[in-house]
Order: sequence, then structure tokens, then C-alpha cells
Amino acid sequence: MTTSKTDSNLIAQEGQSADLDTVAVSRRKLLGGAVLAAGSLATPSLVSAAESNPDNLPPNVPEWTPYLGEGVDVNPYGMPSEHEAHVIRRSVEWLTASPESSVNFTPLHELDGIVTPNGLCFERHHGGVPEVIPQDYRLMINGLVDRELIFTIDDLKRFPQVNRFHFLECAANGGMEWRGAQLNGCQYTFGMVHNVQYSGVRLSDICREVGIKPEAKWVLAEGGDSAGMNRSIPIEKILDDCMIAYSMNGEALRPEQGYPARLVVPGWEGNMWVKWIRRLEFGDMPYMAREETSKYTDLMEDGNARMFTWVMDAKSCVTSPSPEKPILHKGQNLLKGLAWSGRGKITRVDVSLDGGRNWQAAELHDPVLDKSLTRFTLPFQWNGEDLLVQSRAMDETGYVQPTIQALQKERGVNSIYHNNAIATWHVKTNGEVENVRIG
Ligand code: MTE
Ligand code: CO
Repeated sequence: MTTSKTDSNLIAQEGQSADLDTVAVSRRKLLGGAVLAAGSLATPSLVSAAESNPDNLPPNVPEWTPYLGEGVDVNPYGMPSEHEAHVIRRSVEWLTASPESSVNFTPLHELDGIVTPNGLCFERHHGGVPEVIPQDYRLMINGLVDRELIFTIDDLKRFPQVNRFHFLECAANGGMEWRGAQLNGCQYTFGMVHNVQYSGVRLSDICREVGIKPEAKWVLAEGGDSAGMNRSIPIEKILDDCMIAYSMNGEALRPEQGYPARLVVPGWEGNMWVKWIRRLEFGDMPYMAREETSKYTDLMEDGNARMFTWVMDAKSCVTSPSPEKPILHKGQNLLKGLAWSGRGKITRVDVSLDGGRNWQAAELHDPVLDKSLTRFTLPFQWNGEDLLVQSRAMDETGYVQPTIQALQKERGVNSIYHNNAIATWHVKTNGEVENVRIG
């Protein structure tokens, strides 16, 4: 998405906000002054438990038991159950400039654990998905190196392999929500993030092979798509933990994710993870590419823009209950969520059910990995009362996920990037859940 596209849509949304204000006022009364603004998309209606066919229930023999099932090899590449057809990537019409320059969102609310299945990883392309022929794929290294080299995919696979889980988050994740609650869905508010296990080669190993000249301080990473997307990366990060990945979750990268090879820049904004990577140029200063000057800078209140805001600060979200996952049962329930930090491991996640007045520690589930999504859960009782559900992540540097008010104080509301503020789900008395802004 572009700044102007999002801004104009923010304005369009604001223009339609009269009836939302009325709703907000009545809620304010209900919740003791807490709620200020509400999400603008229709809330999904409360889903009742699907009707069961009594013939299939105990003590009867269900219809799938007495007969042979489908044989092996009906689906040479396995697909999920047809009953899971709703678990898909989704896009937002007003954020879709064109199918080739667009974004869709991961259905975080439908997932367990920390792995994003390959077919559900959100996609962000600036020039569509190129069909790269693996035999014709090359990675070229040039600039301030001793030996300018060109690698095939097989060449890359002969380097020592590393296998690491990392999250990739677009800098614009939640970018529509700087000014208020905009999109009524966990998928839309948080879904520009995915977490897979990458297999590939350390860039430090490739650097050793080509020999880096002492003057080399920056690397320009360039994609092979029609957007020719490129970014400057400081040499320290390249040597620290960057990878060229050729696999995700055990199989070849998907075309959407950069087949046959992409750059992995752990913990840093998704825009730098150049897909279909074709060239690394070593230089002595940043290249000031379009994606780091006109885009992916954060416009502050005073008109200055923060540049090179690479790290994705600690963030978390409650995936259930959420607008797509209303509470269906009174009594015992399980709250589920995800937390991540571009600075290291998550050390703690606190959950509030009353808009931030009281907090309790959630359980963090193994594995808790460096710069990876971390799963948390918290059992809770619900007796039909209003809840204002929030989560707050902390990482190993001691950083605590901020409130939106604290973030706005520091950065204003002009940016569409790097919104890692605590979000709020309003659980209503009928169990439906809405994205709201409180303050
Ligand atoms: N690399 C190339 N070559 N072209 C692109 O359009 N989009 C970037 C980055 N790398 C992009 C790219 C952006 S903005 C993001 S957020 C991530 O890829 C998205 O990666 P994904 O599509 O695997 O989710
Ligand atoms: Co992005």
C-alpha cells in the first residue's frame, strides 16, 4: 500500500464516522468511559455450534466408519479438509491498489502453535509474482569484494545449511490503526506477519567466499521481480544473522515468498527481506533506494521523517477471542495469542480482561525462539460480562509493548509504519468481539 492510498482511505473512513460516534457514546456509558472508537467493518454474527446429525453421534456408527475411504494418491499434494475451506488468506478491498501491487493477510485466528503453513503466509508484492525458472536463477555478488561471483541455486545449496524459525512482519502491519480502530478482524489488524522455518545459507559464509573489502559498509539487496525491489542493509546485520533461504517449512520456497531464493533479515521490517533475490552489491554507503526514502520512513509530527527504522519492536495479539472468534460458551474458556520481538526472545506476556487495569501473566509455550512468533495461552472464566481484552509483550532486552497513547506521544499519527501498540478487543455480553480503541 502507499501512504497516499492509506491516508485517503483513512480520511474516507473518518468521513463516515458519524454513526460510529453514536455507537461509541453508548458504549462509553456501558463501559465506564473507556471506549472511544470502534472498528468500521461489519462484525461477524455470533456463530452457533454447527448442527450435528444425530445418526453420526454415539452410540451410532457414524457414516464414515463402515465403508473404505479414499485411496492413497488421490491428492498427490495434500490439501486441508474441505471443512477448513474458510482458513484462507484474505485481502481488504480498499487496501488493494491492484492484484500485482497488493497485500493479503494471514488468518492468525485460525492457527495454533507458532508455524504458519506455507499456503497461509501473507503476501506482499510490489510487482506481482515472477515465474523464476530455477535452472536460470542466478545470485550475483559485486562491488567492494575480492571476487565478484555468480551463484546458481545448486551452488548455494553446497554451503553449510542453517535451519531457523523467524517471523517476517511487514512494517505496515497495523498501519491503518494509528488514528483509531479501523479493521474489525484479527486477520486484518495483525495478519501481515508469518513465521516459518527457513533453510538456507548464512550470508557470512557467502561473504567469506567472495572476500569483503574493508571499505564495504553497506549491501544493496536487489530482487528479480518487475518491481526490482531493493534495500540497503548495514554490513554488521548481513554478517550477524542474515540468510539466503531456499526452503520454508521443509519444502522449496513458495513462488509468492520468493522462489527459488529470498533474503532473510531476522527481526527487521519485512520490506528488507528481498524476494527472488538476484544481486548483492557491497558499497561504502547506503544506496538511498526508493523503498527507504519515499517509502518505509515514518513521518513525525514536526514534518521530519524517521529513516532506516529497521527493527520490529515487541508486539503481541490475542487471536482468540477476537472479532472472528467470538466466545461461544459461558464458563471455562481458553484465550490464545501470539507475541514476537525483533530484538530477541519474548520473556513475558501479560493479559488484561478489563482494558489494562489488571494484568495476569499468560503461559508461554515452547519453543520460545529468538525473533520468532511465541505462542501464549491463558485459561479464563466468562459469565456473559463485557470484557476489554488486551495483551502486552516483553522481550529479553526489557522492552515492554507500549500503549497506543504512549506511541502516539512519541511518534504522532502520520506514519503508517511500525505500529506495535497494545490493541483492544471488546467482548460484548452476547460473546461477539469488536476491535475498539480505548483511552
Ligand atoms: N521483495 C521483492 N523482490 N519484491 C517485493 O515486492 N515485498 C517486500 C518484501 N520483499 C517485496 C519483496 C515486503 S513490503 C514485504 S512485507 C515482504 O517481502 C513480504 O514477504 P511475503 O510476501 O513472503 O509475506
Ligand atoms: Co511490507
